[in-house]
Amino acid sequence: MIPQTDPKAAYLEQQAEIDAAIQRQLASGWYILGKEVAGFEGEFAAYLGLAHGVGVANGTDALVLALKGLGMGPGSMVATVAHTAVATVVAVEQAGATPVLIDIDPLTYTMDPVALQAAFEAYPAIEAVIPVHLYGQPADLPAIQAIAHRQGAKLIEDCAQAHGAKLDGRMLGTWGDVACFSLYPTKNLGALGDGGIIATGDAALAAELKALRQYGWREHYVSDIVGMNSRLDELQAAILRVKLTALDRGNARRRAVAASYDAGLAGLGLGLPLVRAGAQHVYHQYAIRTPDRDGLKFRLRERGVATNIHYPVPVHRQAAYLDRLTIGPAGLAETEHAAAEVLSLPMYPQLGDEAVAQVIAAVRAG
Ligand SMILES: Cc1ncc(COP(=O)(O)O)c(C=O)c1O
Repeated sequence: MIPQTDPKAAYLEQQAEIDAAIQRQLASGWYILGKEVAGFEGEFAAYLGLAHGVGVANGTDALVLALKGLGMGPGSMVATVAHTAVATVVAVEQAGATPVLIDIDPLTYTMDPVALQAAFEAYPAIEAVIPVHLYGQPADLPAIQAIAHRQGAKLIEDCAQAHGAKLDGRMLGTWGDVACFSLYPTKNLGALGDGGIIATGDAALAAELKALRQYGWREHYVSDIVGMNSRLDELQAAILRVKLTALDRGNARRRAVAASYDAGLAGLGLGLPLVRAGAQHVYHQYAIRTPDRDGLKFRLRERGVATNIHYPVPVHRQAAYLDRLTIGPAGLAETEHAAAEVLSLPMYPQLGDEAVAQVIAAVRAG
C-alpha cells in the first residue's frame, strides 16, 4: 500500500543527523527551554525573515497564545474558515473568543475575501481574522489584509500547512501581525512528536507570548499576567533544527510530485489543485475533487493507494459545534460542497517516481 503520508520516511532520510541531535540534547542535562528551543526559534524566524520565534507545545496552542497576546478574549469575535482542521476553531474558543465562520473560494479552498467583507458588515465588532493557508496554498492575503486593516482588525496567519510557502515573493507568516505554525509530524516541517511555533516581527508581542507560554512569567516565579504551560520541548527543538535544513528540499520535491500529478491526471474531468497567481505552493496536500469521491477513495484503496479526506465534516457540522456557531452572512455553501468532494492523494517528499506513477495509473483506471 502506498501511504498517504509517511513521517517515518522523513526521519530515516535524516536519521544519522537526527540521532546525533537527540544524543547531544540528552547529554546536555537541560530539558526545558534551553539552547535547542532558543536555537530553533532563531533559525526558524530567520528562515522566514522575521525577528522573533516563540516555540510552543503545538499548533493549536500557537493560535490560542497568539489570540491572547493580541488581546482577544471573551467578547471578541474572530473571523476564520470552517474548511480547516477543527483546531483552528478550537483555538478561538479556547482563547475565550467567538468564531465567525467565513466561506471559502472553491478554486483555492481558502477564505473568500468577499464573504469576509460581508461578515464585517454584519458583525463590525470582529477584532481578528485568521485565514488558513490550506493544503500549502496561500490565502488571498492582499485582499484579506486590506479588509482587516480597513476594519482595524488583527491578522493572524494559520500557517500550519504552509511552512516555506510564498505569495508575490513574500514568505507566508510575514503578512500578518503574527503567524502560527504546527510542527505535527506530518507537516511540511514536522517534529517527531508535538510542537508549534509563533512568528512575529513585533518584539513586544514576542515578549508577551514568551510570558504567556510559561505561567505568565516575565521572570522566574513572577506572574504578572495569567499564562499557561505550553512550551516547545527541548528534544523536539533539537530534532526540528535538523528537519529545518531539509524543508526547502522537501517542498521542492512536493512541487515536483504535484507537477507529475498535474500532468498525469489532466483530462479526466477531476478538479486538480489550482495555484494562485504569484504563489509558491508547498503542497502540504494534493487534494483533487470529484463528485464520486467516496467511490474513488474505495477503488484506490483496492489498487493499493491510500488517500485521506481533508476534511470530511466541516466544523459547524460536527456534533460538538452543531447549531451553535456564528456563520457569516454569505453562508458556507462552498465549504459544504468541498467537504463532500475533496480527496488527498499520497503526498510527501520521499514519495518516489515509481509510486507517483502507480498513483496516477490507479486514478486513471477510473
Ligand atoms: C490548519 C491547521 N491549523 C491548526 C492545526 C493545529 O496544529 P496541532 O495539531 O499541532 O495542534 C493544524 C494541524 O492539525 C492545522 O492543519
